[in-house]
Amino acid sequence: MAKPTSRIAGATSVATLLIIMVLLSSDRSVQAGSSSATFPTFYKDVLPILQQHCQVCHRAGEIAPMPLVTFAQAHGYAEKMKRMTSVKMMPPWFADSRFGHFSNDNSLTVEQIATIASWADSGAAAGNAKDAPPAPQWTKGWNIPEPDLVIGMPAPVTIPAQGDVEYTYEIVPTGFTEDKWVQASEIRPTSRDHVHHAVVYIRPPSSKWLRNAPLGRPFSASDMTAGEDTQQALFTDSDMLLVYAPGSSPDQWPDGMAKCIPAGSDLVFQMHYTTNGHATTDQTSIGIVFAKQPPRQRVLTLQLTNYSFVIPPEADNFRVEVFGTLPNDATLLSFFPHMHLRGKRFEYDIVQPGGATETLLRVNYHFHWQMSYRLAQPRFLKAGTKLQAVAWFDNSRNNPHNPDPEQTVRWGGQTYEEMMVGFFDLAVPASVDKWRYFVRHDQTK
Ligand code: HEC
Repeated sequence: MAKPTSRIAGATSVATLLIIMVLLSSDRSVQAGSSSATFPTFYKDVLPILQQHCQVCHRAGEIAPMPLVTFAQAHGYAEKMKRMTSVKMMPPWFADSRFGHFSNDNSLTVEQIATIASWADSGAAAGNAKDAPPAPQWTKGWNIPEPDLVIGMPAPVTIPAQGDVEYTYEIVPTGFTEDKWVQASEIRPTSRDHVHHAVVYIRPPSSKWLRNAPLGRPFSASDMTAGEDTQQALFTDSDMLLVYAPGSSPDQWPDGMAKCIPAGSDLVFQMHYTTNGHATTDQTSIGIVFAKQPPRQRVLTLQLTNYSFVIPPEADNFRVEVFGTLPNDATLLSFFPHMHLRGKRFEYDIVQPGGATETLLRVNYHFHWQMSYRLAQPRFLKAGTKLQAVAWFDNSRNNPHNPDPEQTVRWGGQTYEEMMVGFFDLAVPASVDKWRYFVRHDQTK
């Protein structure tokens, strides 16, 4: 054990050394059996990690700046891979590991981090290509299975080089003649760098929302003439099909659960673009995989929102909370916290009848990585269960993302304003839509 440790020690940091020592002590049997193969190789040891934890983003056409698929692509990044994985910046995952277990937790184990470090430190050897695991079968252009239907915004939106861009909407009739059940969906902007967030809403035929707005071309609240229509553009209780933000993942519901798009619905794209010095256009679309058979349960996306906070200048740990009570039984599936640049931490709790809280998720929030967190074990909650969301904001100058620590900050759509939204997904019986879910039944019967 002393030999490989001392050989590596000359070239590496103390932190890496400690990690390697953990690896060696926890993995003695492997060490003992492989005296010649001291150092990891790309094909045998590193590529399996990249396939399982990195290529979802690090392949052509996806969000990461470079692919990590072949040896030639990965070799030059060995040092950077070591650095980014050892400080846990890659793969991105921000849940506090003390609370909850999540099926989409993509973090590396201590052993995997040490393997990458030791590969980088030992010269990033290729090894034998015969050791490579089979290449994963990615769907080209998507991270969900091949969509059955792709619905795009009919007209491209022009994004200026500078300034704020109002939320932009496009309404697209689906033409569905029967209710459709969505098993998986993914939003794909064409100009990802400019999209701060996108929400695709479902507008059923019975909804009065934005009925005076045009179909199939972009508009914003200030294009609407009546005050009521302007208000409607900004606030809706329509059901959501999917939310997209930087780093967010597509939806894929477990078997037997799906989202419903009722016959005759329209999809409403709500786009928030930010400018970055380059004018461009965007034409976002959503890919949809339909359920193979009607599901037993319908998935609803609800939210815990506080609109009325006032964050004082320079406050470095400002707490905002909101409560909600479930009107009916439901199965809790996943979370998606949303804040802006001053977001620091976000937590979801169950508040027990006596007032004690049980934390379901705590996220060390990072604006550039707005992710969903899917419970490894969906959790059944009785009607009357009290949920709490708590957000902490950092409006101090220690927050490197803070655009102005001297501002008093309130709710608002732009990134220099703030939001406090705890989205969460519930499964309810397939016949219950969002409106019926909120009808409270007599809980004594
Ligand atoms: C969810 C998507 C995603 C996953 C998963 C992911 N990355 Fe990344 N990675 C990115 C994005 C986007 C960037 C660029 C933005 C940034 O640096 O934050 C990046 C940046 C990097 C960089 C820095 C590149 C540079 O030139 O500075 C390295 C190195 C890296 N990733 C390695 C990895 C490794 C290794 C894994 C798997 C263990 C991984 N990433 C998993 C999305 C991802």
